[in-house]
Amino acid sequence: MKSYLSINSLIPSFNKVLNVPGDKSLSIRWVLLASQAIGKSKAYNLLESDDVISAIVSMKKLGVEILKRNGCYEINGVGLSGFRHKNNLNLNAGNSGTFARLLCGTLAGNVKNVKVTGDASLSKRDFSRVVKPLELFGINIKTKKNKLPITITGSKYLRPIFYKEDKGSAQVKSAILLASLNTPGETVVKSKMSRNHTELMFKNCLKIPLKLKKYKNYETIKVEGKTNYKGFNYKIPGDISSAAFFIALTLLANKSSLKMKNVNYNKSRTGIIEILKKMRAKIRITNIKNYKGEKVADISVVSSNNLIGINCPKSLNTKSIDEFLIIFLICARAKGISKFIGINELRQKESDRLKIAARFLKSIGVQVDEKFDSLKIYGNPKLKIKKQVVIKNFLKDHRVFMMSCVAALTLGGDFKIYDKKSINSSFPNFLDLLKKLGAKIDNMQLN
Ligand code: S3P
Repeated sequence: MKSYLSINSLIPSFNKVLNVPGDKSLSIRWVLLASQAIGKSKAYNLLESDDVISAIVSMKKLGVEILKRNGCYEINGVGLSGFRHKNNLNLNAGNSGTFARLLCGTLAGNVKNVKVTGDASLSKRDFSRVVKPLELFGINIKTKKNKLPITITGSKYLRPIFYKEDKGSAQVKSAILLASLNTPGETVVKSKMSRNHTELMFKNCLKIPLKLKKYKNYETIKVEGKTNYKGFNYKIPGDISSAAFFIALTLLANKSSLKMKNVNYNKSRTGIIEILKKMRAKIRITNIKNYKGEKVADISVVSSNNLIGINCPKSLNTKSIDEFLIIFLICARAKGISKFIGINELRQKESDRLKIAARFLKSIGVQVDEKFDSLKIYGNPKLKIKKQVVIKNFLKDHRVFMMSCVAALTLGGDFKIYDKKSINSSFPNFLDLLKKLGAKIDNMQLN
């Protein structure tokens, strides 16, 4: 039976405090790194979404003991090159590009013929970006046209590499760093700036030798491999990429305010805040703390009806890569034209988010100009949707689903939104939190 969500009324004013679930990037990294530690690790507030569960199930299939006790996850690590598995093992990464690509690096050590698969969206995505560097280590990778399924055989005789990562992809950088753990000698990545959670965990949790140098547009990371490390505990802060949808909801709602506590506020992820502040959004960051090298903060937002368009500096692109969809929606309600350039990486995500954003905005009456690498949005502070809008067929992209809900609750219209299950990738309680703020959302079944 098919089902869809029906949203046909604006969210009433709210004034609340809430917690968004744990950060997805940190949760996946903790699972992969704790699995290869020596001894026990614990994680609090681990994100229990499909992307993270795929990582847990896969590590269990590689012989790692993982359990949940009193709301806390425990992993009994097997040490570097300690995975044990049955023949012809199949690991399903589901919808998660991050887990799939980091897994490829993690399998560098002692595995044989392990097949990595994914869902329809992930199977369309390009893996050459990780296949290329990982083959240089001496890992054997079989793939057709650099897409999943990929079959990996690790090696006992890996060689350290020097690699220039020029996409600004944290997934590529992290896959290399994970492979370097199982490689004797010094691996060097010269990388365009991207989120740095892996390096921070290496340095502050694993305490393994790591040399980091930052230059203007790139950084170099040097890791000394084959250094066993002990289990480590981690309290996962909230995910700013999930908070983003509630920031947008509050900005666009009528006379509302919201505070989200303990959100990860790593500078490599805060592009959305920098962009929205330039657009004159009323946002306050308080209670900034340091946790194992990561910044954590409270984010407070107030409805803002004087937003102005932005000419977005390219330097903010990687810092807001997962937030562009929702930023584009906010731009549709801002005064003036907003311009984004150098954003074709958006076409490589769970779906072609540049194409989908342009199509969505046009369908709700917003003028846009989409090019291969850029988007122009002609904002309208009085934007109101007065018709029926049906959202489906977008490779079940979780962020497209959540952006559509925010549009329906703040801009009006009669929305039918399909593929509710997509939120399980990153934010399973998204709809519960919306309802907690007063949103009226009906679940409809089709026979
Ligand atoms: C992620 C990196 C980003 C981001 C993804 C999570 C990570 O991808 O889009 O959702 O956890 O490393 P790229 O590094 O490919 O840009």
